[in-house]
Amino acid sequence: MYVRSFQDSNADGVGDLEGVRGRLDYLRWLGVDAVWVTPFYPSPMADFGYDILDFKGIDPLFGDLEAFDRLLEDARRRELRVIVDVVPNHSSSEHPWFLESRSARGNAKRDWYVWADPGPDGGPPNNWLSVFGGPAWTFDERSGQFYLHTFLPEQPDLNWRNPAVVGAMFDVMRFWLDRGVDGFRIDSAHHLMKDPQLRDNPLLPPETPVDGRRTEYGGQLHVNDVGHRDAHEIYRRLRRLLDSYAAAGGPPRVALGETRIYEWRQWASYYGAQLDELHLPLNFGLVSAPWDAKTVRTLIDQVEKALPWGAWPSWVLSSHDEQRVASRLGPAQARVGMMLLLTLRGTPMIYYGDELGARDVAVPQHLVQDPWEKNLPGLGLGRDPVRAPMRWDEKTNGSFCHGHVTPWLPVNVTVPSVEAQRDDSCSVLTLTRRLLHERRRNPALSEGRYEPIDQASNDCVVFAREIEAQRLLVALNFTETAQTVHAGVAGPGSVVVSTFLDREEPVELSKISLRPNEGCLIRVLE
Ligand code: GLC
Repeated sequence: MYVRSFQDSNADGVGDLEGVRGRLDYLRWLGVDAVWVTPFYPSPMADFGYDILDFKGIDPLFGDLEAFDRLLEDARRRELRVIVDVVPNHSSSEHPWFLESRSARGNAKRDWYVWADPGPDGGPPNNWLSVFGGPAWTFDERSGQFYLHTFLPEQPDLNWRNPAVVGAMFDVMRFWLDRGVDGFRIDSAHHLMKDPQLRDNPLLPPETPVDGRRTEYGGQLHVNDVGHRDAHEIYRRLRRLLDSYAAAGGPPRVALGETRIYEWRQWASYYGAQLDELHLPLNFGLVSAPWDAKTVRTLIDQVEKALPWGAWPSWVLSSHDEQRVASRLGPAQARVGMMLLLTLRGTPMIYYGDELGARDVAVPQHLVQDPWEKNLPGLGLGRDPVRAPMRWDEKTNGSFCHGHVTPWLPVNVTVPSVEAQRDDSCSVLTLTRRLLHERRRNPALSEGRYEPIDQASNDCVVFAREIEAQRLLVALNFTETAQTVHAGVAGPGSVVVSTFLDREEPVELSKISLRPNEGCLIRVLE
């Protein structure tokens, strides 16, 4: 969940930890096992909390450490795990470490960040670019050197080649583990280390096909600033730290990583050769794949094939950084997407609001908040549309905040609220809850094997999930026309859930009819 947008508890128009705590019963009712909360640390908010001033504190906007402890305690009481965002790649440019580092070349913390002399022409040391636009280097007049920032100039990159930095950040992680968090989502995990010689990235040939949103950043092959192999040692160390907490008799702790790598073998390397790195390197395949049955089927097979033996996949359809799934796929296919997400093998992650089928909110120019949109306007890169506050009921501001308060972004009113969908037997919310329930009660769905079933045409994705005597089928129609699929064998089956939530009926497995945009979860009967 994006904390800023989940629930405001103190009438300032910004969501906070106390607000989240007040909504834990909803999460429990929905049927999720864990929540990942986005950064709540003290921050000047240049990148809305991903620019951190104090890695061990709470920004007053979101609460304080006592509020955090209360949240953990209440979550635990409801058997909900809490995973916090750790942002190791960079700090705020106002962090005391950076202020010191910047103060003089000879400062003891100089090497805590990545400083380099100008290139031969007096410009940046190399051709690396910031994800948010412009060069990844900013010149510091006083000391005559450039510092590296993969994101905003307000987010200088920490130098993970310096053991003191490693020590300081592990100390931060121990702080939150000791407080009782169930795990971390490692922000920008694929950016952690860079080429020590700071070599240029090769440029992609200009004729390379682009997706229309191609920025200058997308025109480079990021071989020297992304996915550097030296980060693996850090993740092995992180895993040892997490394991040591479990070994000491505590609950297991999990490491998710933002590993935005689309070459699947390289992505899978973040599990570690001995499964000794991240438990769940996040897999963004479904977020960017064109939505057609052939591509999606190929993607699932590739991801499954790339996994090291015994590794557990993860799947996401959207996040606080990408378009909402209902906007990308359209409302009808978003239901198919939800069924896919919740029936695939692996840990699914639902972005708050997607359980309602919420769409992107058009944010007028004068209300734009996201620095990415401000830097590169009009390219569709801005993330405000997907960060609009949650609509809990049909009142003003959807009860995200008090009716007379102005929320930090307009509340997401693209679909009916939680209250309006709760008792609607056909709503997206009911579908999401129903699928989570089936997942929980059918071991084949939570732990079973994944077995694709080839079809004559490329219009549908059909697969089985199987464990011991239990076999379930998932049949998804990616098109707007009716289709007939088969399960590879003849015999009786029964529809458990249709994405339309209007049929639970017997089917013949050799000839399963799917309506336009319909997905079905089917039980194979003996
Ligand atoms: C990650 C976050 C994103 C943030 C960036 C910089 O990609 O998900 O929201 O802007 O890192 O920290």
